[in-house]
Amino acid sequence: MTPLDDAALTPAPAETVVAPTTARQTSNGELERDPGMPVSTWRLRSDAWEYLRFGVKRIALGNDDESALTRDGEIARSLRALETVEMYWAGFGQRYVRCIGEALAEGDYQGALEHIGRVVQRLRGTTVPDDPREDLLDEHERAEHQDDRDPRPRFEVLVVDETTAADRDTMRAETLRLRSSADQFVYDYVVVPSADDAVAALLTNPNILACIIRPGFSGRSSQRLSRDMRETISLAWRSAGTATAPASSALSSVQRVVSLADVLHSIRPEIDLYLMAGANIEDLAGALSKRFRRVFRREDQLELHLSLLRRVSHLYDTPFFAAIQDHARRPVGVFHALPVARGGSVVGSKWIGDLAEFYGLNLLLAETSATSGGLDSLLAPVRTLKKTQELAARAFGAKHTFLVTNGTSTANKIVHQALTAPGDVVLVDRNCHKSHHHAMMLTGAKPAYLDAYPLNEYAFYGAVPLSSIKQLLLDYRAAGRLDEVRMVTLTNCTFDGIVYDVERVMSECLAIKPDLVFLWDEAWFAFAAFHPITRRRTAMASAKRLEERLKTSAHRAAYAEQQKRLFDADGNPAPDEVWLGERLIPSPDAKLRVYASQSTHKTLTSLRQGSMIHVYDQDWVRDAREAFHEAYMTHTSTSPNYQILTSLDLGRRQVELEGYELVQRQLDLATSLSQAIARHPLLRRFFRVLTAHELIPEELRGEGAPMPLRRGFADMWRAWEHDEFVVDPSRITVEITRTGVDGDTFKHDYLMDRFGIQVNKTSRNTVLFMTNIGTSRSGIAYLIEVLVKLAERFQEQQDQRDTELPLPGEVPMPPLPDFSSFSTEYASDEKLPDGDLRAAFFRGQHRGSVDYLLPEQLRERIGRGEAPVSAGFVTPYPPGFPVLVPGQVITREVLDFMSVLDTREIHGYDSARGYRVLKP
Ligand SMILES: Cc1ncc(COP(=O)(O)O)c(C=O)c1O
Repeated sequence: MTPLDDAALTPAPAETVVAPTTARQTSNGELERDPGMPVSTWRLRSDAWEYLRFGVKRIALGNDDESALTRDGEIARSLRALETVEMYWAGFGQRYVRCIGEALAEGDYQGALEHIGRVVQRLRGTTVPDDPREDLLDEHERAEHQDDRDPRPRFEVLVVDETTAADRDTMRAETLRLRSSADQFVYDYVVVPSADDAVAALLTNPNILACIIRPGFSGRSSQRLSRDMRETISLAWRSAGTATAPASSALSSVQRVVSLADVLHSIRPEIDLYLMAGANIEDLAGALSKRFRRVFRREDQLELHLSLLRRVSHLYDTPFFAAIQDHARRPVGVFHALPVARGGSVVGSKWIGDLAEFYGLNLLLAETSATSGGLDSLLAPVRTLKKTQELAARAFGAKHTFLVTNGTSTANKIVHQALTAPGDVVLVDRNCHKSHHHAMMLTGAKPAYLDAYPLNEYAFYGAVPLSSIKQLLLDYRAAGRLDEVRMVTLTNCTFDGIVYDVERVMSECLAIKPDLVFLWDEAWFAFAAFHPITRRRTAMASAKRLEERLKTSAHRAAYAEQQKRLFDADGNPAPDEVWLGERLIPSPDAKLRVYASQSTHKTLTSLRQGSMIHVYDQDWVRDAREAFHEAYMTHTSTSPNYQILTSLDLGRRQVELEGYELVQRQLDLATSLSQAIARHPLLRRFFRVLTAHELIPEELRGEGAPMPLRRGFADMWRAWEHDEFVVDPSRITVEITRTGVDGDTFKHDYLMDRFGIQVNKTSRNTVLFMTNIGTSRSGIAYLIEVLVKLAERFQEQQDQRDTELPLPGEVPMPPLPDFSSFSTEYASDEKLPDGDLRAAFFRGQHRGSVDYLLPEQLRERIGRGEAPVSAGFVTPYPPGFPVLVPGQVITREVLDFMSVLDTREIHGYDSARGYRVLKP
């Protein structure tokens, strides 16, 4: 079987029926995922229907006996499983399960197949054809058919309450009655009886955008849920602070409602919660107003209906996009410096009219440099852009959000300048993006470089272990210089997808220095806020959780208890081993000052260079707002690009309305890709997907599976809750030693030139395949097809060779060089690593202060006991980190590493003239 036969990747055309591979059934009728296949329940749903179709078709064609229909037979089990799955979706599913069951009981296989076919088509997003089947539709189907043709965007509303079929019918009838042609959207109800089912529904159905809780709900689910779903539900309850779903007997109704609201909010914070109560509504409204958008009485159907629609229209609202559209429609005379505005210099041109033809006239109609008429000014926003930024803050869980139109390279410089001053020490991963190094070159803050753990076998770095960060802070304290340490900045996740436990890092660092500021470079991680598992490791969600934790009495008590072990009676700190051996608890008075910079354009919808800075700073007004404003002014163009701003506004709308679905789909596709490589005999011979077991040293991860997501949500949830580092499953690092080709050649000559496949990053023996929210199933199928073709080629070459190519691990790799040190002239201190990068850089700018030296000349000097000092940055790409920064001592290790690099691009190094070295 080639991977392209895999039904998980290529949906079967309507006429042919293949057994889908995502779902399988356990003997007691639960629907389980095939391990390693995509985890989303909506994929499981569509595959379960295909599976049913497969079974019924076999019977209809006489290929299977009718025992499949008996109570324990496969088809009956499929139907039971679908009954559960469909409970979490609005609309047609449950009714079809019933009709299909009836048709099968009457031996009407053809009728059953008709029904199943319609469901499968609807799940694929195809509307059921009008004719000639119209007359075959029953009354319900006809009504649904009409409803399907409603072009308005549709969402679903979860109702949690014990109900009867008659109640549900009444609710649906009521919804239809209230629906008006003036409504911007339409919605349907998903009704579940218990708190567990509510959790399952939110995890399962991404179309749910609001939830109504009515106090009559029960605790546990009576559905046959898969083991993975049951475990995930328990984990969700536990992480929201309750052991299990609250039983009705044990707690007051207010407590039960509060627990349910908390768990639902922790899974999908973007969802609005409404409480519908009977008597004592006024009391409830007071007690519960923090958790619920509104509390209604049962009679207030119209009010509820309007609130639901209004809420979604708030999510949908894109103030800047609306202002731009309005501007484009207005007749405006252009008497300012922007010739392309309204197509002026383009449309009438003899030579460049094709610009408007290619991009469309709207691009030019929307071009302006006016800040009037609602367009607002990015440098001093007061109307639409201010609103756009507030909406982004809401979506990403920040206190404040700022839009940036020059990428995260600029976002990082803004934050550095806002928070640090010349002479401050910044703890920073040496392997971070160049913008951080450049920022310190500008601000005069002194970097104290942290070394990430090296993955020498694959020639790139992982991330910085927490123990190294703690040790460095303790070293500064021992030297009496802790006061100078101002900020810690780390990249989360790294380019290769290594993800920190952000809350733990901040918590333990704050326990050593309670006023530290954190900058998390989330250039690659903007998507993470929109999935219940990945969200917990974002800077904003971690800051919020930590803030809440610091306020609890349990935290205060644990802190006081730990202080007794960390300090003696005279207030002297215990030895470092004690501080390193404990999970440090920060003072309840520690201030959370957390910043995140995100390249929205890298992982969400935005035009190139669209980035955001998110702020969660408890000292914002007192200590940061003014400085941030100046820093923003320093780096932001006075002519910001309006198309980028518009796309950021729309990107925010998208993630609030469909972020969960898109992110989960991306994870599903990445799982399919890694599984296809692991299962295909030929691909397996040349390519190996690196897992957490290769990418994270044993002591820095838990005992979980190499790829937790392949086993399901629950395993991934556990790993993301507990492990020091985890791997972002949307990134697939493939090791390619057995192909005999290096990463760079594989990228350019094989993937790009021959097949038009673009990848961002390679190392000597790896290639990184990144999925994103725009990745499609057919894109993944194409990539697999290409890999198979390449593997066939490599196999042919292999067959013609006398000798086997080396195995992975047999190819000698130069060890990645750690940061050597700043030269004594620029180092602040003999024992501590920080140095004055800015002084070294500007020294190198003076005429006559730099020599160009070739590697041999440098080796000679080092041999004579000299310590040559780099005048600039030298950054080979890949791997992309600066092996030298201004002021750094050039060592043999650096030269050895550089001598075996076969990288095409080395920024800051001229192979003809050599290294730029500061004259003594
Ligand atoms: C970790 C990290 N931070 C920042 C940046 C810069 O982002 P941008 O391209 O949006 O300027 C990059 C770019 O690759 C990056 O990898």
